[in-house]
Amino acid sequence: MLKMRNIFHLTLISLLSFLASSTCANLIPFDDWEHQRVQLQDVSIHFRYAGSGSPVLLVHGWPQHSLTWHTIGPILAQNYTVIAVDIRGCGDSSIPANNDYTASTGAEDLKGVLDFLGINQTYVFSHDKGVGLAAALATKYPSYVKRIGFADYPLPGFGYETFQIPTADWDLYSNWQLAFFQVPDAAEFFISGKEKQMLAWYFYHSSYSGNAAISEDYLNRYTTAISKPGFLRSGLTYFGVSFQDEAFFNSTIKQNPLSMPVLALGGEASFPLSVLKSTFSTVGRNVTVELIPKAGHWIGDENPKWTGNRVSRFLAEDGGIPTVDLGYLTDKVTLG
Ligand SMILES: *[C@@H]1O[C@H](CO)[C@@H](O)[C@H](O)[C@H]1NC(C)=O
Ligand SMILES: *[C@@H]1O[C@H](CO)[C@@H](O)[C@H](O)[C@H]1NC(C)=O
Ligand SMILES: *[C@@H]1O[C@H](CO)[C@@H](O)[C@H](O)[C@H]1NC(C)=O
Ligand SMILES: *[C@@H]1O[C@H](CO)[C@@H](O)[C@H](O)[C@H]1NC(C)=O
Repeated sequence: MLKMRNIFHLTLISLLSFLASSTCANLIPFDDWEHQRVQLQDVSIHFRYAGSGSPVLLVHGWPQHSLTWHTIGPILAQNYTVIAVDIRGCGDSSIPANNDYTASTGAEDLKGVLDFLGINQTYVFSHDKGVGLAAALATKYPSYVKRIGFADYPLPGFGYETFQIPTADWDLYSNWQLAFFQVPDAAEFFISGKEKQMLAWYFYHSSYSGNAAISEDYLNRYTTAISKPGFLRSGLTYFGVSFQDEAFFNSTIKQNPLSMPVLALGGEASFPLSVLKSTFSTVGRNVTVELIPKAGHWIGDENPKWTGNRVSRFLAEDGGIPTVDLGYLTDKVTLG
């Protein structure tokens, strides 16, 4: 009897360890990631975090929020401490009273989060409007950023402007929204009450796979996030300040390209390789440019596996930076 029980016990243990090693390992589902909130001078920044090891800061764009990392984030969290912020006026961060959505100010929020966490050196990966904030962080505080990745966004001053000028071949799939959003008063007026329809258009128009790119569940979640009072307006204002961003990048990165290694990615259905190269070649002194296969703009939903692995490889080429352990935050009061 005792013997039988031992055999049963052993079998159970080996079965469990087999399951642990054979299931797609330790992917922590994004919805299970911890939440954290940091009160900065004029804004309350919310972020999600998971994993262990050296830090990787993820910076999303618009019309998405930190949820855009729900697939790439867990891949990176296998080897890194991943911090996915909601930038001001997006997701569950607050709307600042001063309506300042420039990349330079957003970079101060990113630095505020890093300072709160006691991190003075991190890896960064960014998408869409988040590229502007991440680039501003890297140029203002280069010692904080050891390596940086940019995905699917031409930096203002480096080609963004040309994307919003009408051409003869413009149609529903072109980037006319960049010009439309440039005037937030108009864009807010015409989109209000139609947030979900606008997102459905946004998601197919610059995708590889069409509306299948983003599931109904995620479409609803993004709709909820931008339909909260004031949030449509704050997201659109990121587009309204693109010329201020251009002036900022003209006077910073244009004069002094980033010194840390840069990985610039673009979805194959979103950026011709030649455009991606001409946009990014002068942003840094050491830039690697590559296309993401089978993806348009929505890299996290269309090809997270390739992208997550490519970013991991880029970061692994580095000699390494100090690890951080955010476990202490789990039961800690930080706002009171
Ligand atoms: C980070 O802070 C530590 C402790 O103060 C210091 O030793 C280290 O040089 C700093 N690293 C950077 C990149 O500033
Ligand atoms: C940025 O620099 C370009 C090229 O020098 C110039 O044409 C453009 O007007 C500048 N933009 C701003 C907003 O200062
Ligand atoms: C440039 O970056 C690549 C890829 O990250 C790296 O292998 C290479 O050593 C870097 N070159 C210099 C000169 O830093
Ligand atoms: C994580 O690190 C391990 C060990 O260094 C490596 O084998 C694995 O490929 C890495 N995973 C990712 C997603 O980079």
